[in-house]
Amino acid sequence: MLAKLSVSILLWLTAAGFSGAASAETPTTVLVTGANRGIGLELVRQFRARGYQVIGTARNIETAKELAETGATLVQLDVTDSDSVRAMAEKLKGEKIDLLINNAGIQGHTAQSFAETDFDQVITTFDVNSLGPMRVTQALLPNLMAGSGKTVVQISSTMGSIANNGGGYYGYRASKSALNMLNKSLALELADLGITSIVMHPGWVQTRMGGENAAITTQDSVAGMIIVIDALEPGDSGRFLDYQGKELPW
Ligand SMILES: NC(=O)c1ccc[n+]([C@@H]2O[C@H](COP(=O)([O-])OP(=O)(O)OC[C@H]3O[C@@H](n4cnc5c(N)ncnc54)[C@H](OP(=O)(O)O)[C@@H]3O)[C@@H](O)[C@H]2O)c1
Repeated sequence: MLAKLSVSILLWLTAAGFSGAASAETPTTVLVTGANRGIGLELVRQFRARGYQVIGTARNIETAKELAETGATLVQLDVTDSDSVRAMAEKLKGEKIDLLINNAGIQGHTAQSFAETDFDQVITTFDVNSLGPMRVTQALLPNLMAGSGKTVVQISSTMGSIANNGGGYYGYRASKSALNMLNKSLALELADLGITSIVMHPGWVQTRMGGENAAITTQDSVAGMIIVIDALEPGDSGRFLDYQGKELPW
């Protein structure tokens, strides 16, 4: 029997237009946010290479040339803008999504010390990194329920680990800790609906955010993450894993 919490989600899903059972049709459909560059773009490339149907979102789809070249379907999305999230959900209404990867994120201001911390920028960082993935997941629940994969991957960071905190970066670290907590609650609530939702650290990756001295390429990060995602089971929901499948401390 479904838990009380999930009954309320089912009622919400019905109101949002979801009516059918899970579909087993192929190909697998993946939606990646922040897909115009960095890790998001490489996720799109590698899923396309596997023959998946990929929906890649970008804040500006006109300039997302590399994303367009992958053959992915482009959808405009700013994860901080409720109207943009609603418009994306409307555009994708009735389409199944097997795997949602909430990848879009910002480092926020680069000041490391408390004295230099700008709290307006911290709020923006939380808006993108913590609330953005929740807005998108909520809006796309009917699509996830229509798919057979029923998997959500929130791209977090080891910098969100309280146990492993090396100091500084107040806004970024706290925003990823908050994402980890939000996902844990989400995983508990969505388990009865068969949705598996994890947080994942992609490694220190050579992107605009990670910098050119980062430890690994986007190719290696994404190849690792895909192996981990492929192996996910419902019992993994709520876990905090890195791109090599290693469990990270909260
Ligand atoms: N690189 C690393 O070493 C590393 C380590 C740990 C975790 N991560 C995480 O991995 C994810 C991807 O990072 P990355 O290294 O690929 O960074 P990146 O190269 O800076 O790319 C970030 C992506 O997020 C998008 N984005 C930013 N704000 C957005 C918003 N409000 N709405 C929608 N999209 C938005 C960007 O779009 P625009 O082009 O429009 O700005 C871009 O597509 C992030 O969540 C990051 O925190 C990265």
